Amino acid sequence: MRYASVTNRLAGLGSDKWAVHIRAREMRQAGAEIIELTIGEPDIPTPSDMIDVADRAMRAGRTGYSNGRGEPGVLAALAAKYSERTGRPITPENVMCFPGTQTALSIVMLGLAEGGDEIITGDPLYATYDGVIRATGATRISVPLHPENGFRMQAADLEKVITPKARVLLLNTPHNPTGAVLGKKELAEIGEVCRKHDLWIVSDEVYELLIFDGKFTSPLDLPDLADRTIAVSSISKSHAAPGFRSGWCVGPKAFTQRLLPLSESMLFGVQPFIADMTAYALGRPSAAAATMHENYLRRAERISERLNGIAGIVCKVPQAGMFILADIRATGLTGDAFAMRLLEEEHVAVMPGESFGENLSGYLRLSLSVADDKIDAACAGIVRLASRLQQRKYA
Ligand SMILES: Cc1ncc(COP(=O)(O)O)c(C=O)c1O
Repeated sequence: MRYASVTNRLAGLGSDKWAVHIRAREMRQAGAEIIELTIGEPDIPTPSDMIDVADRAMRAGRTGYSNGRGEPGVLAALAAKYSERTGRPITPENVMCFPGTQTALSIVMLGLAEGGDEIITGDPLYATYDGVIRATGATRISVPLHPENGFRMQAADLEKVITPKARVLLLNTPHNPTGAVLGKKELAEIGEVCRKHDLWIVSDEVYELLIFDGKFTSPLDLPDLADRTIAVSSISKSHAAPGFRSGWCVGPKAFTQRLLPLSESMLFGVQPFIADMTAYALGRPSAAAATMHENYLRRAERISERLNGIAGIVCKVPQAGMFILADIRATGLTGDAFAMRLLEEEHVAVMPGESFGENLSGYLRLSLSVADDKIDAACAGIVRLASRLQQRKYA
């Protein structure tokens, strides 16, 4: 039988990126005790008041079809959130709801780029962006993000990779895996380059509420960029609710009008009871975000204290997010090799930096959504392996 070329473009995507995680699960299945710091999923339950709202809505019959844009209540709540944040009137016509940021990203990209186009991302990048971009038929072009700039994209580096085929810059601030938060000046400079080359900016902002150091700015907040920016986000991280799959995009009215038929052809909207719960959550400060903020910052500091400067490791507290990076280049191993040995020899699973792009070669990404005692045990394992490697180097 014949298949469409999209299946070839996506075939085999990413399974080697997850080799350590997959091996860790196999070892666990076989009875080994593994400390897993690979994936980042909120480690606190979805707040019970949100679940109560969804439950009451379901019992009140909010279980029918919705529509391609979203339920009026959640659209109004999102319009209010973004009007307040940007200081400009954002209306429900600027907003569309989707099952999570991931779906929003996929549908938004299908509306902006296709075969023959280029979509630009930073490198390192969030692991699913490759699939989102390849599905459109477009090619991904990388802007290197340098550790000496705190992994924040610089306008001059962006300018260097732009060709006439470029259509979209996919930004991620706060950034996964580095935690980098783009400042207003950096965004304005990046935005200037995008205006010059007539690029769309898609801004993935799922970690907006998990910033430890710095102030959140979105390109959407900058009036000069509003006509070319689409912000995507969700309640997955901000409200510890990834399983509810409640996300959205906010952009120019002309854009959402164009996108609507695409969304209608895929979804009959998102579930009304989840829309009600999301509207409720957006109407008040997120206690879940406050708890995670406190926990993740404490754990990042704890990890940095235990690893930074030990056996050549560099491990600094990130600006934001659910992860911390450890630079293990001084051990002489790649991130892939270190992570695999760490799993086999110390039963600690972390993500190799290489899974997030070539610019993160020789790094490890550690999840902060793991209890403190496990974090301590994982750090001890990393220190033991790094010390063994150092002894061998100087033996
Ligand atoms: C940068 C980034 N974007 C998007 C997502 C997915 O978010 P959602 O659950 O809203 O689809 C994640 C999840 O880890 C992420 O790290």
